[in-house]
Amino acid sequence: MSKILITGANGFIGSFLVEEALKQGHEVFAGVRSTSNLKSLNNYRIQTLILDLSNPEKLRQKWYVLSQYFSKFDYVIHNAGATQAINSDNFELVNNQYTQNLLQSLVDANFMPKKFILMSSLAALGPGDPKTLAPIELEQTPQPITAYGRSKFKVEQYLSKQNDVPYLIFRPTAVYGPREKDFLTLFKAINRHLEPYISSPKQLLSFIYVKDLARLVIQSCSSDIANRSFIVSDGQTYTCKELSEITKKVLNKWTIPLVLPEIIVKAIAHFTESFAKMMNKTSVLNHDKFKELTSLNWSCNSKETQIAFNYTPEYKLGKGIEETINWYKQNNCL
Ligand SMILES: NC(=O)c1ccc[n+]([C@@H]2O[C@H](COP(=O)([O-])OP(=O)(O)OC[C@H]3O[C@@H](n4cnc5c(N)ncnc54)[C@H](OP(=O)(O)O)[C@@H]3O)[C@@H](O)[C@H]2O)c1
Repeated sequence: MSKILITGANGFIGSFLVEEALKQGHEVFAGVRSTSNLKSLNNYRIQTLILDLSNPEKLRQKWYVLSQYFSKFDYVIHNAGATQAINSDNFELVNNQYTQNLLQSLVDANFMPKKFILMSSLAALGPGDPKTLAPIELEQTPQPITAYGRSKFKVEQYLSKQNDVPYLIFRPTAVYGPREKDFLTLFKAINRHLEPYISSPKQLLSFIYVKDLARLVIQSCSSDIANRSFIVSDGQTYTCKELSEITKKVLNKWTIPLVLPEIIVKAIAHFTESFAKMMNKTSVLNHDKFKELTSLNWSCNSKETQIAFNYTPEYKLGKGIEETINWYKQNNCL
């Protein structure tokens, strides 16, 4: 049995990493904040650790104390991260600086695991070419278009320069599944007979079902592969139209297509971002989100990941959306 620390364990992806790690027979330490909602961490086998990633000294002390009772973690999966932030500095702080704090504290306390796994994002690479529509490739020069993507790219660079840390970097495309909120917005619209498009219905998209991602990441802990980055998707490319069609079929709804002009969405993004800033809050729609939503090509090539880990995703979009929608219905969200 290996000891795994999973940060951001209570979040959407984190909670599935925890479930999968338990399923694969590991001893799981769930790294959370003192303010985190722990509703999704209800298995008695989970050991919860309150971590203050903003404070390297407190982290160091935590590892010193733990080392009195336990041997080192075998693996650390650093999954905590800001996906929304008040401003770009906040992405930089949470996604880059806090990761550096965690790594440095593990080094200082001589508590470095056998492998450190970073949950990065396809956003670190940025979208693919909108003209050729060639898929995003692992080895292409990263050109993140958002502050979130830039923060992820920066921390990837930092991690890959650490000589004494065996690491893996995963760059998942859009992750969906039970408990996720962004897809729910689309499902709710379609449930009300509306089929909204912000970009072209021909926009190319890629997805990974959360259980497939979790299985890959937990399996990768014990593999011999280290010091590499991997794109994660279900291996398919979908159009925005296909996403709507699959959802309509699962929900069994007819819809009225609603193509929102980009200029209007941009104006709304400007308004919601300014308003959120005034209220010192994050906004779901902002300039960066607008850039992501209107990029025409988010197709990606994840073949190397499948070959390296001998890994086949079990869920294509149809099966994944069906399971997700069933969960939303059972939990009265739809
Ligand atoms: N969802 C996607 O489509 C997707 C795609 C690619 C990569 N990712 C990456 O996957 C990871 C998990 O994302 P998610 O979708 O599961 O998001 P999520 O549900 O918002 O979970 C984020 C987790 O990170 C923690 N966190 C956020 N800010 C923190 C801070 N300042 N200090 C400590 N912990 C903090 C959260 O804790 P609290 O609950 O206390 O806030 C939560 O546990 C992130 O690193 C994200 O960048 C997500």
